[in-house]
Amino acid sequence: EDRKDSKVIRILELVADYYHNALKKSPHAVDYLKSRGVSSRSIQKFRLGFSPSSEELVNFLRKEGLIDAYEKTGNLVKIDEGIYRDLFTGRVVIPIRDERGRCIAFGGRVLYEGKPKYINSPESEFFKKREVMFGLYEGKEHIKDMGFAIIVEGYFDVISMHDEGYKNTVAPLGTSFGEEHAKLLSRYTKDVILLFDGDSAGKRAIRQTAPYLLSQDIKVRVAYLPEGEDPDTLVKRDKELLRLLLEGAKDIFELFIKMLREGQKEALKDLVYFAGFVKNKVYQHDILREASQVSGFALSALYDQLPKVQRKEE
Ligand code: CTP
Ligand code: MN
Ligand code: MN
Ligand code: MN
Ligand code: MN
Repeated sequence: EDRKDSKVIRILELVADYYHNALKKSPHAVDYLKSRGVSSRSIQKFRLGFSPSSEELVNFLRKEGLIDAYEKTGNLVKIDEGIYRDLFTGRVVIPIRDERGRCIAFGGRVLYEGKPKYINSPESEFFKKREVMFGLYEGKEHIKDMGFAIIVEGYFDVISMHDEGYKNTVAPLGTSFGEEHAKLLSRYTKDVILLFDGDSAGKRAIRQTAPYLLSQDIKVRVAYLPEGEDPDTLVKRDKELLRLLLEGAKDIFELFIKMLREGQKEALKDLVYFAGFVKNKVYQHDILREASQVSGFALSALYDQLPKVQRKEE
């Protein structure tokens, strides 16, 4: 990595510290975090922060002589001579770390209601959203030890899951899960549970995410949350229910076979679609053979459906 990058990385860590210290002096922001049940332990562990005002950040940076250098991250926007705007003003700030623990960007959430609810640092040479998973730095050893990862949708899902002991939880950064995420994860595990929000977006996300994981030879299990719930709310409301849902998370192909057995014929199309991404051809064959037996469709007919869907990312 070049020197320019390491300087920016150093500044980002200083700014993360600044935000973290500012949070401690901002009762309104602390109240917000407490109101949603974020523990002090989580605030420390993820070094959560708050941006009180653009001026305060600029004063801090000016003292350190770092304004121009920091401006290059895009987190601070020059409006006029000596006048800047901090993108994260008025927001809870979540440091985003790469796999090695270096702060490379921030996420910011409004306190309570407001739009947009979240913003992220703009993309740059060293911050490419689609190559980062929130929680991976904190969770990677746990993922290895436990033998699987839990993928959730949001920052606070990761934070709360870790706090309640599910330290093998990670999330993409608002963007949808993609090939780079799957490659990153496959270095730590070949088994994941998708634990997405209990809403229509969450269901779409399963369809969107599974192919990338299957393509990396990762086993995909799915846990469905109750309607209207996300991991953050459920782990706080009913930890035992969450435990049962995770324990009962079924392999995505097992789910389709079960649907087929229950007479849901449309499941066959989905099953064949997802089977198209399976790398291991022996495993793929087993899946199709079982689907053929359960549905009554000839195995060869199912194979005929495969090539059309197989090439999403090869
Ligand atoms: N997201 C985003 N911009 C938005 C809404 C969401 O970037 N306007 C991203 C964030 O990374 C967020 C994730 O998508 O964490 C999941 O979205 P959603 O379920 O709507 O938000 P939550 O994480 O549940 O947000 P919160 O609990 O803070 O309300
Ligand atoms: Mn501290
Ligand atoms: Mn959602
Ligand atoms: Mn959510
Ligand atoms: Mn939420």
